Amino acid sequence: MTAPLDREAIAERLAATGYVPDRDLATALALMQRLGRPLLLEGEAGVGKTEIAKALAEIHGTRLIRLQCWEGLDRAAALYEWNYQRQLLAIKAREGHDAKVVEAEIFSEAYLLERPLLAAIRQETAPVLLIDEIDRADEEFEAFLLELLSDFQVTIPELGTITATSVPHVILTSNATRELSDALRRRCLYHYVDYPAPDREARILLARLPAIDTALATQIARFLAKLRKEDLAKVPGVAESLDFAASLVGLADLREDPDAVRDALIALLKTREDRARLAPQVIARLVEASA
Ligand SMILES: Nc1ncnc2c1ncn2[C@@H]1O[C@H](COP(=O)(O)OP(=O)(O)OP(=O)(O)O)[C@@H](O)[C@H]1O
Ligand SMILES: [Mg+2]
Repeated sequence: MTAPLDREAIAERLAATGYVPDRDLATALALMQRLGRPLLLEGEAGVGKTEIAKALAEIHGTRLIRLQCWEGLDRAAALYEWNYQRQLLAIKAREGHDAKVVEAEIFSEAYLLERPLLAAIRQETAPVLLIDEIDRADEEFEAFLLELLSDFQVTIPELGTITATSVPHVILTSNATRELSDALRRRCLYHYVDYPAPDREARILLARLPAIDTALATQIARFLAKLRKEDLAKVPGVAESLDFAASLVGLADLREDPDAVRDALIALLKTREDRARLAPQVIARLVEASA
């Protein structure tokens, strides 16, 4: 990776990829690069956490390696495992050969299945390593990860110790479905990804939906800001706001077509309660207030 970029340069380059960051996020990314520390991004669903890692890899022209976390994720799925089927076939094919020689062969690189963490450590050019939704993994896995994030080396008993040649740029995301350990938090820089303010949300809509009218984008962004203040079971994120806006491209004003707005709500309100709570007159009031 090239020399560290400052905050302004990062913000500019992210915007060029279509990702519109706020000042604090650009600062966090600049610091992460300068200090060589992992960055933990916490926030609600659909606010752009995963996308940050993709955009970061793009601006640095480097590979994005993603580890999606889930309950029960273990070292074998995250780091490496041996290809047992191939090993068994090799053992069968070499029946009668010297056992030591066969053993050395089947525990060699050709029989190793590299998983995301090992892949990240073995890249020549520092990749962006995205550890997505770490809160879904178990606490034991978190402890194991912590070790890896402190020294970026892995010992495979049969092959020896592998140390990262270029330290990956690590982004961890969490939806805060469980409390992460203090140790993990201490190890990382931290940024809370919030819902965007209306002016930034309008810029996001314009960046992602080039066909949208500027006035409409501004109005939708204001509408979203008001809608998120309502008592909702599932507050819509940017992903939902993009779908909502995409289905209204072509309009110049939300007041122009109340039916279209009502139809488009299926992109925003994702529970039966929320649909019921936001009666047409509530929506009409929010639309009016956003004009
Ligand atoms: N600041 C932004 N600029 C441009 N696009 C954005 C921005 N924030 C979010 N998006 C878009 O919103 C969508 C959702 O983003 P993403 O999947 O990264 O959210 P997330 O926070 O990872 O959500 P989840 O918690 O559900 O995984 C993507 O299509 C992304 O491109
Ligand atoms: Mg995500």
